[in-house]
Amino acid sequence: MKIDNLNYRTIWPVAEGVEIIDQTRLPHVFATLKLTTLQHAERAIREMQVRGAPLIGVTAAYGMALAMRESATDAALAEACRVLLAARPTAVNLRWGVERMRTVLLPLEQKQRALAAWQLAAAIADEDVAINAAIGTHGCELIRAIHQQKNATVNILTHCNAGWLATVDWGTALAPVYSAFAEGIPLHIWVDETRPRNQGAGLTAWELGQQGIPHTVIVDNAGGHLMQHGMVDLVIVGCDRVTAQGDACNKIGTYLKALAAHDNQLPFYVALPTPTIDWTLQDGVQEIPIEQRDATEVTHISGFCEDGEVRTVRLTPPGSLAANYAFDVTPARLITGLITERGVVAATNMAILKEAT
Ligand code: MRU
Repeated sequence: MKIDNLNYRTIWPVAEGVEIIDQTRLPHVFATLKLTTLQHAERAIREMQVRGAPLIGVTAAYGMALAMRESATDAALAEACRVLLAARPTAVNLRWGVERMRTVLLPLEQKQRALAAWQLAAAIADEDVAINAAIGTHGCELIRAIHQQKNATVNILTHCNAGWLATVDWGTALAPVYSAFAEGIPLHIWVDETRPRNQGAGLTAWELGQQGIPHTVIVDNAGGHLMQHGMVDLVIVGCDRVTAQGDACNKIGTYLKALAAHDNQLPFYVALPTPTIDWTLQDGVQEIPIEQRDATEVTHISGFCEDGEVRTVRLTPPGSLAANYAFDVTPARLITGLITERGVVAATNMAILKEAT
């Protein structure tokens, strides 16, 4: 995707290691960061300099490669897995990336591991791009069908950021948007701001703006009202983990959008690469670990001030407690379909995807 008309990925190899776009500084400052050690990669994931399930998985794979450059013993391999797996709990792509690296590296001789790790991490990054492009192609068919029926601008609501910033390129929920826009289908995107970290207001709005796609940022509670008034044609969101029974975990507030879409008979799609499926879990509400983040993300907010500085201010009275659940789970019965690289499937028919793996 483009930033100021230059093509970028969110993570790319450099001589010292890898370079990333520091997402904690967007949309106000575009800055990149070099990750040269395992600790840098772990911190980038934990502090959300990189975020979004697929990009977390790819960064973890590169983190393993960085670790193998320092030491490729069995103990170093085990330690790299331990450190990275503890960085964030909810996106299963983290475990998927780490396990995939471990499975390939463990049987190798130590002297082969550094190069093999580097090559595999790069291959996983390239795969992510190809997978997301395919999600774009399949999801575009849904948008095209709505456009053919309506013959007017298609209004899509999305939550959080599941665009190219959340992946290596293309995005998941926004890949169909980028494909449809490239086809010339008139689009308008409703962007949930996505409190408390505002990935919608800050990241989705920024990346859509960079690609020239019409969009409007709304408060998280506006979606139901827009749906009741015919201003939304479909909802597409990303996800951090889908269970074997098709329950989808995504950024907090996604479940409420699914309920509102259901009540208004609107299609609610979840876009995902198949590495986001956790075949070991069934009931997403009961079994998916939900990350709880620092309460200061709720009690405080940062923004760009007129003097050009980014400042943080407090929103709540000093004595009030705050809770910060970062994700929720939408049951399969509320999901119209899963948009994957293998096509669009019903969330209640995961068997089709299982057979294909
Ligand atoms: O906490 P974040 O910003 O990592 O959460 C991101 C999301 O919830 C995305 O919707 C999800 O990872 C899908 S990314 C393609």
